[in-house]
Amino acid sequence: MKALVVGSGGREHAICWKFAKSSKIEKVYCATGNGGISQVAENVDIAVDDFNRLADFVKMNNINFTFVGPEIPLSLGIVDYFKERGLRIVGPSKGAARLESSKIYSKEFMRKYGIPTAEYNGFSNVNDALKFLESWEADKKVVVKADGLAAGKGVYMCGGREDAVNAVKQMMDEKILGDAGTNVIVEEHIDGPELSYLVFTDGETYCAMPPSQDHKRISDNDKGLNTGGMGAYAPAPLATEELNKEVEDTIIRKVIDGIKAEKLDYKGVLYIGVIMNGSTPYVLEFNCRFGDPETQAVLPLLDMDFVDICAAILDQNLANLKINWKKDFSVCVVLASGGYPESFKKGFEIKGLENIKDAIVFHAGTKIENEKFVTSGGRVLGVVSTASDIKTAVEKVYSNVSMIKFEGVRYRKDIAWRALNGKQD
Ligand code: GLY
Repeated sequence: MKALVVGSGGREHAICWKFAKSSKIEKVYCATGNGGISQVAENVDIAVDDFNRLADFVKMNNINFTFVGPEIPLSLGIVDYFKERGLRIVGPSKGAARLESSKIYSKEFMRKYGIPTAEYNGFSNVNDALKFLESWEADKKVVVKADGLAAGKGVYMCGGREDAVNAVKQMMDEKILGDAGTNVIVEEHIDGPELSYLVFTDGETYCAMPPSQDHKRISDNDKGLNTGGMGAYAPAPLATEELNKEVEDTIIRKVIDGIKAEKLDYKGVLYIGVIMNGSTPYVLEFNCRFGDPETQAVLPLLDMDFVDICAAILDQNLANLKINWKKDFSVCVVLASGGYPESFKKGFEIKGLENIKDAIVFHAGTKIENEKFVTSGGRVLGVVSTASDIKTAVEKVYSNVSMIKFEGVRYRKDIAWRALNGKQD
């Protein structure tokens, strides 16, 4: 078989890497790929939203199925388009992807199906939003979220009324997030640890992956600016068997039942961002795809052929598939460019990759110049190690990370600290 992966980051490198290991796969293509991905797949220079050319490429090269990494092509309807052209593609339809691409839709869905989530109000008119905030306490924390996709920049954590008013004006009046902020939601603030529950679904049933935990802030101790994710580990000890059962009963099954009741065409990966509200799991957000960098931590734990899972998803046969996971722990540390998540320089040579032992290096922002890897993005690499205990996995990953050098490199030194300290908050 031949597979096409759509996307170009660390998540897509992990997906291509796993496909390349399959005995059923003869060739992997990746549009558009990156420097590291070219080691396991052939990079294809077609943009992720150029559906016509992507589908032509698939037909011309007799590619058996396509797997979509990022949310943008899903939200624009790549799955609907490929299906119209008779092509097999893993991912939710445009309508189903609204669980991620519209925060208001996803909150309404949660309300309708009794899924625990923070209280909220949705607004399509700036004056209504500002009027609502008039009675908000000056110092009571609140969250303002853009309804649309905003590349991780659409959530404002506000200290009180004044911050929230500014956030609403910036999004709705000044349009600093473009169309993403045309509508907003104002949401109750919840403080608690977060967990990423990812499931494969064929729209009828689901198979859960090991729960993982992302580290969104740039600096140790969860300080500094938000990023696309500075590291992840799985399975997260906070996700005890008891909690996983509660999440399945009160959240995951209800989401799948809701997907069926709404007749959403969802065949792919669903990411449920969970936040602990005291001891009760609440849904923070849905993503209609694999997480980044959670995927880089989770896929190395998958102890079977990923192609069989994709086939079961597409043939709506997940109920009859047993998915095997290694019993190990996995830790991914992201190496980023100096200055990230603000402005940063690119084009620095990445040295030391030949010294890596006991780790997998997934490339996020790299390209090849004069036969050498150079930095080409904010998040550059994700280094992953696995071991039978989390402490050893952390030691292994950091001893490998220390081998890799490029100008300005920055990374967190405390990935998996919650698991190491036995901390639950
Ligand atoms: N790790 C967060 C995300 O993929 O959106």
